[in-house]
Amino acid sequence: MLKGKKIVLGVTGSIAAYKAALLVRLLVKEGAEVQVVMTPAAKEFITPLTLSTLSGRPVLSEFFNSDSGSWHSHVELGLWADAMIVAPATASTLGKMAAGVADNLLVTTYMSMKAPVFVAPAMDLDMYAHPSTVKNIATLKSYGNHIIEAAAGELASHLSGKGRMEEPENIIKVLKGFFLTGSELSGKRILITAGPTYEKIDPVRFIGNYSSGKMGFAIAAECARRGADVTLVAGPVSLPTPHPAIRRIDVESAREMCDAAVEAFPSCDAAVLSAAVADYRPAVQASSKIKRTSEGMTIDLEANPDIAATLGKTKREGQCLVGFALETNNAEENARLKLDKKNLDFIVLNSLEDKGAGFSCDTNKVTVIDREGKSEYPLKSKAEVAKDVVAHLSRLLVMLVMLLLPSAASAEGEELNATVNLNASKVQGSNTEVFTMLQDALSEFINSRKWTSNTYEENERIMCSFNFVVNSYANDGSFDCSLMVQATRPVFGSSYNSLLFKYEDASIKFKYQPYDRLEFVEDNLDNNLTAVIAFYVYTIIGMDLDSMGELGGSEFLNKALTIVNNAQNLGDAGWRAGSNNNNRYSIIDDYMNGALEPVRKLMYKYHRLGLDTMFKDADGGRKAITESLSLLKKAYEDRPMAYFTKLFTEYKVDEIVNVYSKCTADEKRDVVKILSEINPSLSSEWDKITKNNN
Ligand code: PMT
Repeated sequence: MLKGKKIVLGVTGSIAAYKAALLVRLLVKEGAEVQVVMTPAAKEFITPLTLSTLSGRPVLSEFFNSDSGSWHSHVELGLWADAMIVAPATASTLGKMAAGVADNLLVTTYMSMKAPVFVAPAMDLDMYAHPSTVKNIATLKSYGNHIIEAAAGELASHLSGKGRMEEPENIIKVLKGFFLTGSELSGKRILITAGPTYEKIDPVRFIGNYSSGKMGFAIAAECARRGADVTLVAGPVSLPTPHPAIRRIDVESAREMCDAAVEAFPSCDAAVLSAAVADYRPAVQASSKIKRTSEGMTIDLEANPDIAATLGKTKREGQCLVGFALETNNAEENARLKLDKKNLDFIVLNSLEDKGAGFSCDTNKVTVIDREGKSEYPLKSKAEVAKDVVAHLSRLLVMLVMLLLPSAASAEGEELNATVNLNASKVQGSNTEVFTMLQDALSEFINSRKWTSNTYEENERIMCSFNFVVNSYANDGSFDCSLMVQATRPVFGSSYNSLLFKYEDASIKFKYQPYDRLEFVEDNLDNNLTAVIAFYVYTIIGMDLDSMGELGGSEFLNKALTIVNNAQNLGDAGWRAGSNNNNRYSIIDDYMNGALEPVRKLMYKYHRLGLDTMFKDADGGRKAITESLSLLKKAYEDRPMAYFTKLFTEYKVDEIVNVYSKCTADEKRDVVKILSEINPSLSSEWDKITKNNN
């Protein structure tokens, strides 16, 4: 993630400067190029020699090289870098950065920086809590910088409290998280407008508004993080470009913004129009400063182009247009009017009646409205709001693609018709978005992947469900879930679906972070979640084919067996042979063992010759089922410890009791004898067969 990234590391005069050495080492280890810039005071705490040796580049500290007289260009550094980190950042440097006191190379570099800036403060607890520091940090945040909050712990003063610079490992994590590019929007081109527009009255005055650009910049950053190719048309704002992958076009007036947007839109998949565009401009712009007179003055205004409506008129099939509505009254009604009038796909409503929403502040409270309904969100940071908005956009883009390519989409994954449910009620209080995203990602993975080269018509797909319960979840993406997986096949000539396979997997441990792509590579099982899913999918497909033709599923059952054998090396729960015979390993190892071949053969006999025949020949069908249960008994006798024979009777118990509800006492006696021997723990269920007098 950091490979090839160019990082300027600013080091200031704090006792925590020693941590800069580790930070440089970690960055270099990640493959980043590091240019260290030190304040003069920092050199009292760590030598430039240490940092230049670790970074492999001379450390910069002075404006000029005293030997050669050459100038160290902070402007060039600002253009060179993909990110700047100031760590440690002292109270003094925070103040200079916030106030623009450019009296050293570090602060001038910061002020010339075009890339995102991360600031990791370090100081004594009282200094950290002082109102001036709090205000400076808030100011730096409002400029779009990323503050990596100080941690609590023992400080250089031997006092204990908040003020310790965050550990270098965690700073690297923050940076990686920032550069983590999801693939969800990869290949999508997205146009974003942000900030205000200024409409000139004369060379010194303009008509403008309070927009800071924060909302639009956050959306641009979120789209870029999810892999989109972003064009950001920005009005006059003082924000750095929030992601190195963004193409930024700076404009001033509504007409300039309109020209840039109209030019970019045709090649885009979507546009998000968050700019606060001035609706009117002075009809005449004075070429020299208008002089004050004692008279009042009138400015004639003329209408600016409506950028959203202009793009809405040219929007083609598959393109998606998103607007914002900034309202003060009748908010929802007005937003809906704009949705229709501007031909938008959805509109993001923010109201100035809500405290902390709208212009300039770092938070917003929005309602996303489309023609189907609305989703209201609580007050959140603009970065979080951007995630919600982009999640809507992303879902819409997927839907539009599906609508445009119905045949192509359905020609792909065709084997399973799976529902996926992820129940996270046990871990309430966590970020819920990750659970929704994982559920969607799993559904997409199972249903869209091409698991076989066979052709399955829509009505031939295997109905199945994957029900996860999250038992534990940590913010680093560690999950421990249980999974109930089951697959059914309709019984010919009836509305009844018979279970092909059902199993409750007690524990699946895996890692998943939002936007992770779920992938499965057969010979490289590095993802426990997709390995488990692939195991069950191949088992289900194999058993389904066994039920269609005797031993028909060998190819896919062997794949499941291979996964189990390879996954044992992963050491994750559920795979390993030996410890317990109720696990993934036992299921497939038993099922594919020669001694259990009768069980594989019974799949066909039971389902096709048995159940499918019953609707026209109940006695004949039941007879086939009795024969198939005899095969089960044979397999049991040959391998009494096998788990699968028991499992089969467990998930088939209700069906079997039902099949034998109407039959002779002799038949009942014979079948109960077989079943009680195989699975005596279900004796009360088998008794129902005997007692059932229908
Ligand atoms: O920049 P911030 O300080 O973070 O503040 C964010 C914001 C409040 C500016 C933002 O959240 C927001 O609401 N932007 C839209 C503001 C606005 O102009 O709303 P509107 O209701 O007047 O316009 C409706 C839509 O039409 C908007 O998508 C707007 O971009 C677009 N429009 C409006 C006028 C015009 N001439 N051309 C347009 O494209």
